[in-house]
Amino acid sequence: MTMLTRAIPSTGEALPVVGIGTWQTFDIAAGRSGLEQRAAVLQALFDAGGSVIDSSPMYGRSEAVVGRVLGDMGARDKAFLATKVWTQGREAGLRQMEASLEKMASGGVIDLMQIHNLVDWRTHMKTLRAWKEAGRIRYIGITHYTTSTLDDLADIIRAEPIDFVQTVYSIGVRAAEERLLPVAAERGVAMICNLPFGSGGQLSRLRRRPLPQWASELGIESWAQFCLKYLIAHPAVTCVIPGTSDPAHAADDCAAGVGPLPDANQRRRMVEVLEAS
Ligand SMILES: NC(=O)c1ccc[n+]([C@@H]2O[C@H](COP(=O)([O-])OP(=O)(O)OC[C@H]3O[C@@H](n4cnc5c(N)ncnc54)[C@H](OP(=O)(O)O)[C@@H]3O)[C@@H](O)[C@H]2O)c1
Repeated sequence: MTMLTRAIPSTGEALPVVGIGTWQTFDIAAGRSGLEQRAAVLQALFDAGGSVIDSSPMYGRSEAVVGRVLGDMGARDKAFLATKVWTQGREAGLRQMEASLEKMASGGVIDLMQIHNLVDWRTHMKTLRAWKEAGRIRYIGITHYTTSTLDDLADIIRAEPIDFVQTVYSIGVRAAEERLLPVAAERGVAMICNLPFGSGGQLSRLRRRPLPQWASELGIESWAQFCLKYLIAHPAVTCVIPGTSDPAHAADDCAAGVGPLPDANQRRRMVEVLEAS
């Protein structure tokens, strides 16, 4: 079965609902076995029909590792490359974005350029508009990872023409449901969920008990799929980006993008399971 997709509201382009994050997991020295393992992670993503790879200059060597591995695989055309600008000032932002295009072996175009943690966002927004106009990036986004900035993100997407917003949303951290997702839906902004496992902590918590029997009705075979299906089922969510350096985990995560999704009642039961664990 093929992975579900969601339309990017600003264009209607279909985006596979499960992607991959690269924070820490792709920040490695260029040794053979490490690169082969990351290639296997990306292969698992592509085999499952996924495409979104999220990185940042903040993630050390991750952008370069993505670029090296994609180059070796000859797979740039399979990837939807998302990275970020994370610096102060126009000139520094320009230099950093030029470097990202190069490091990620992007072929001259980054699919999604996001302003990381809203750092100097007003300055970078002007550059991103010009780059989009020039065809060097296809989409503009903003990101953060704390619930304390949800209202700021909501205010910005209300005021500015932005394609994507990325922030913290997981079965254990649901504040975005009230404070951001309704605005994203109303304004036609795609939503990427980062920290979908609470950095892995929610999985450790849930793993102490067996999956509920009714999870099999939703095709759920692991706690990772349980957590991700909860998110993907929200109609305002466009994509989730779990981080992993393990190819088997990547395949497991991608399987959450296939088959039935929980309805509102089932989603409530999922939260009860987490809260009881
Ligand atoms: N401000 C921002 O823009 C921002 C902030 C934070 C994060 N992000 C993005 O969001 C991405 C995801 O966040 P994250 O990586 O920090 O946290 P996460 O996705 O919530 O959790 C990652 C952890 O989950 C484990 N994991 C993944 N799949 C698994 C599976 N199927 N079974 C068991 N364990 C599994 C990983 O371990 P293994 O490696 O062993 O699989 C890792 O320890 C980042 O990589 C980054 O791209 C963006």
